[in-house]
Amino acid sequence: CGIVGYIGRREATPVLIQGLKRLEYRGYDSFGIATVGSALEVYKKTGRISDGEAGAASLRGSTGIGHTRWATHGEPNDINAHPHMDCRGRIAVVHNGVIENYSELKRQLQERGHIFRSETDTEVIVHLIEEHYDGDLLTAVNATLPYLRGSYAILAIAADTQRIVAARDASPLVLGIGDSEIFAASDMTPLLEYTERVIYLEDGDVADITPDRLDIYHGGRRVERPIELISWCVEDTRKGGFDHYMLKEIFEQPQSFYETIRAGIDDNVRQMIMGADEITLVACGTSYHTTLIFKYLAESLCNISVRAEMGSEFKYFVPPLRGLVIAVTQSGETADTIAALKMAKARNCSTLAITNVQGSTVTRVADSTLLMRAGPEIGVAATKSYTAQLAALMQIVNLRCERAFDDVLSHAHLAIGDVLLYDVRDAVALCSKADHAFFVGRGAFYPVAMEGALKMKEISYVHAEGYAAGELKHGPFALLTPETPVVAICTPGPTYSVMASNIKEMKARRAPVIALGVDGDKELAEIVDIFIPIPNTHLLVQVLTASVVLQLLAYHTACVLQRDVDKPRNLAKSVTVE
Ligand code: G6P
Repeated sequence: CGIVGYIGRREATPVLIQGLKRLEYRGYDSFGIATVGSALEVYKKTGRISDGEAGAASLRGSTGIGHTRWATHGEPNDINAHPHMDCRGRIAVVHNGVIENYSELKRQLQERGHIFRSETDTEVIVHLIEEHYDGDLLTAVNATLPYLRGSYAILAIAADTQRIVAARDASPLVLGIGDSEIFAASDMTPLLEYTERVIYLEDGDVADITPDRLDIYHGGRRVERPIELISWCVEDTRKGGFDHYMLKEIFEQPQSFYETIRAGIDDNVRQMIMGADEITLVACGTSYHTTLIFKYLAESLCNISVRAEMGSEFKYFVPPLRGLVIAVTQSGETADTIAALKMAKARNCSTLAITNVQGSTVTRVADSTLLMRAGPEIGVAATKSYTAQLAALMQIVNLRCERAFDDVLSHAHLAIGDVLLYDVRDAVALCSKADHAFFVGRGAFYPVAMEGALKMKEISYVHAEGYAAGELKHGPFALLTPETPVVAICTPGPTYSVMASNIKEMKARRAPVIALGVDGDKELAEIVDIFIPIPNTHLLVQVLTASVVLQLLAYHTACVLQRDVDKPRNLAKSVTVE
């Protein structure tokens, strides 16, 4: 979910609606806003903001809060949408996070006469605030927080006061400082239009916000938090003539890869990397795939021992840990990844964050940060953040290999640029007619195939499985039919001939094969149905170009199937609950 708040001299509604659109990638099943003008008014609705915003236009007042939802407790409907209100309609709250003890709190509140309208965990917060409210919103929020277990970023407003009270614990919240106006949001993207000065709240902070005054408290004491400058600009968040953010972001990859390489690695991080005899990486989703690619590259090219772990598993099955632990997360907010990193810290490991978002939670938890330079990624499916993560991780490989790949990395963006305009129509025609597809590769191309399959299923809804090519015969072969395309990555190297044999085995089972191989590989082209040539370059670069071709395949398949490419169903870009 994403939350946004505004207090100042402007009408709040347009600022909130615009801000929520920027945060929609965090969830988009329903949205709502509440404003305080002459009265407290609320509007909330199931569905996309662009479909429902007209209904919110009548809300007046220069103080307001908003929410865009990714359902956790209770299905997406108008009632479960935020903001939630107290029994008397005097207080409204938006919340990102999960209140773990909400059933117990709800029962107690109901026993005391509170009437609940929604099925959400959030509603307990507003009823607790109501119980403690006698005209002082700050005191009422402060009295409520000790009851809450779980994670939250909260914004609260009340009918008779021009203020917002904000609180965070384990969910992100950033304040934007303008002239006689203050903005609050789950991340900096809604603020870019208005200010470049931001304050990142810390876990446990409570902020009392009026247009001209901001007081931040921690543990009951007033504290100062530094104002930081944002490096992104608002143009970065626009579609810039492309049909979809995803396509724009695919096309930005030469630049974001190059910028991430150019930014280099600072001395402190360099020392951490050079000193580690074992490296463990934790990540989720697409980021997890980059950690698997790193494992293959680092273990084979520079003989370091690497473990790649899923954030969501790690917390409950912590492996024996030594050395350096690296959290890889585009948003810097994925709850599972952050929980894993905290466990590593508690075990005295040194910790490094690789993230795209300056000031994000992971940067606050880790000992050091290696910042990717991808700029804001709006499409829910990760593309440029994936290759920028690879840029960061390949630099680590390069460092540990005594900079043997300096030249390869400094030119890799050119090869990425070369594949952007590839015509993948024939492959798209096959995939868009299929119900199921397999993506296979060996070595570093196995996680590349996993990522290709993930892209395909998340945006086109064609069921796709990423498999290690040699494993397909141990079960999945039963599923091969003339209607089940297999996308196989087969490039020169030690696994080339065994891959070619695997492809022949698949063909013998009548599966159509789409092969990615190097330019000029006639032998491969002859045995497959569709041959997509990628530049015949270094392994590191082939990993990148093959990945980009698979992004294009998923993108165009989703377009042919008329899917909502930037906002696929049921997903959110940044999942801030465990
Ligand atoms: C969500 C997104 C994925 C992303 C994953 C991890 O599930 O839909 O695209 O890979 O979170 O996100 P992170 O920000 O930690 O890289």
